[in-house]
Amino acid sequence: MTPAQCKVIEAAGTTAYRLASGPGGWVERLGDDVIISYKHDAARDEMGAGLDAWCAKAEWRPVRVFHRFMPIKNADRICPVLHSGDAALPLTTVVTEAGIRYGLDIGASYSHGLFLDQRLNRAKLQALKPKRVLNTFAYTCSFSVVAALAGAETVSVDLSRKSLDRGRENLKLNGIAESKHSFIADDTMELLAQLAAKGEKFDAIILDPPTFSRSKSGRRWQVEDHFEDLVNAALEVAAPKCAILLSTNCTKLDPNSMERRARWCAKIKRRAAEYMSLGVPVDFPAGHGASTLWMMVR
Ligand SMILES: C[S@@+](CC[C@H](N)C(=O)[O-])C[C@H]1O[C@@H](n2cnc3c(N)ncnc32)[C@H](O)[C@@H]1O
Repeated sequence: MTPAQCKVIEAAGTTAYRLASGPGGWVERLGDDVIISYKHDAARDEMGAGLDAWCAKAEWRPVRVFHRFMPIKNADRICPVLHSGDAALPLTTVVTEAGIRYGLDIGASYSHGLFLDQRLNRAKLQALKPKRVLNTFAYTCSFSVVAALAGAETVSVDLSRKSLDRGRENLKLNGIAESKHSFIADDTMELLAQLAAKGEKFDAIILDPPTFSRSKSGRRWQVEDHFEDLVNAALEVAAPKCAILLSTNCTKLDPNSMERRARWCAKIKRRAAEYMSLGVPVDFPAGHGASTLWMMVR
């Protein structure tokens, strides 16, 4: 991204975005800080030199630069490591996206708390002004925040209570009271079955699962194997005119194959739907970011 392109993003009230992306990693600006995520040392050094040159042109310097090694296996990933800047500064920080505030924690895990590639989908959800939103695999609840700001009641579900607590904080950061928002630490598939049994309906549903996980009860989640189960279960709680966001980082599932599989689910559940993909934000080149698809159920 050129400094001029970054100024356009910043003028829209966004301080968290990708500065650069390449085959060996990527560089993110997170408010005053920068994280260089790298797959090998040569890529880290190249991106570091690129960042220095970019900063000279942009007349901006990050307060801190962190390095984050990204081995292929999630289990091998660790928190970003401070490369330059004051080690006494807190590892928690607040960034904005379209003026909306999100708390990040660079010391919490390898993931700081906000998936920047979902910017367009968060804006879309907010623009849809849904009344009742089910945010599954909610993580730090960024989709619940935008829905709440649009006036929705939200239900956020995630296996991780800690992530949901961060979601609560994100609502607070934006002056949203908790009264219309619930946070459920549970397995998404189990909760979907319970919601369907109670006859609950939602007019927007976020389905952004990890590629693989295992719940506390030992239930194994593998997105390629369970994608249809998830969409079918979501359709059981989809109100008429429900907008369902399908999203994955699994390279085996691109928007075309997601659409093919989602069409099959709609047929089984006798629901008509239209499909649209917003792609990725301007700071993400092709091949970077999650594959996402909106299934607009009639
Ligand atoms: C890809 S992140 C979701 C990102 C989120 N949609 C966002 O935009 O910030 C995946 C999340 O799913 C949660 N998770 C994994 N398996 C789960 C399951 N079976 N049920 C509920 N949550 C699960 C993880 O704890 C993690 O927070």
